[in-house]
Amino acid sequence: MVKKAVLPVAGFGSRMLPASKSIPKEMLPIVDRPAIEYVVKEAVRAGIKDIILVTHSAKTAIEDYFDTLFELESLLEAKGKDTLLAEVRDILPDDVSVISIRQHRALGLGHAVACAAPVVGDEPFAVLLPDVLVDCAGQKEDLGVMVEKYHASGAAQIMVEEVPEERVGQYGIVALKGEVPAPGESAPMTAVVEKPAVEDAPSRLSVVGRYVLPGEIMGILAETPPGAGNEIQLTDAIATLMERAPVDAYAMRGRTFDCGNKAGYLQAIFHFAARHPELGEQVREMMAAEIKVTS
Ligand code: G1P
Repeated sequence: MVKKAVLPVAGFGSRMLPASKSIPKEMLPIVDRPAIEYVVKEAVRAGIKDIILVTHSAKTAIEDYFDTLFELESLLEAKGKDTLLAEVRDILPDDVSVISIRQHRALGLGHAVACAAPVVGDEPFAVLLPDVLVDCAGQKEDLGVMVEKYHASGAAQIMVEEVPEERVGQYGIVALKGEVPAPGESAPMTAVVEKPAVEDAPSRLSVVGRYVLPGEIMGILAETPPGAGNEIQLTDAIATLMERAPVDAYAMRGRTFDCGNKAGYLQAIFHFAARHPELGEQVREMMAAEIKVTS
């Protein structure tokens, strides 16, 4: 059963500077909660019980956020602020643990995932890249479907979406045996390349930042040499896994927001603010008024 998820959060977030200079980029808020909370809750809704943060000494604010802040809780309790108390207490269910492991050197995404090996052991696990927020607009969520498919078929599931040709060089790009599957479906993968040049790209299907992988990949990662950008790439380890075990590309249904850059981060704020259960209506009015003023 897939009960563990690895979230690599050690990166410095240079594309979000200066905001990310003294605050981890994952802690920047999307409306009223840090971006990382959306990703962790997505994992929890998919049945994950152990959240494994692969982190850095400059980013302890992330661990603190998921810890209990006793002084704050007793203050809110004493003042009878029950709604706020429930909000800070109920960030995660009691049966979910947050475990952190340090990545001592920035050697790439594959290296970050490999740092979690002592906790993952030989169990299957999910990887969620925290820059990417996924909204499935009330439909069954993609990560949950990927976990179900892994349980049913035993094939690793790599979430993909189409990107315009000019962006293929920014992602892992996959090749498939047959047709591109319908959204919410998987198809066997035949190749995956990290950040190819447009002319070498096998398709326009990009790896989005959600993976369900067998424990076996940890052994492969330990032997994967540096690849693109001189970094140990998760993509290269998946390419090796494909020689030994089935690997599927899962066509996502939801919408992604890349919060690792300023435009994507702002888009996520607009999206989640406009749909916020308490603030949404007010926000939509504010947005409309703002558009009038600036146009
Ligand atoms: C990483 C992966 C890449 C994937 C991308 C998704 O790249 O290496 O395969 O397509 O995340 O966001 P990064 O964005 O860390 O350069």
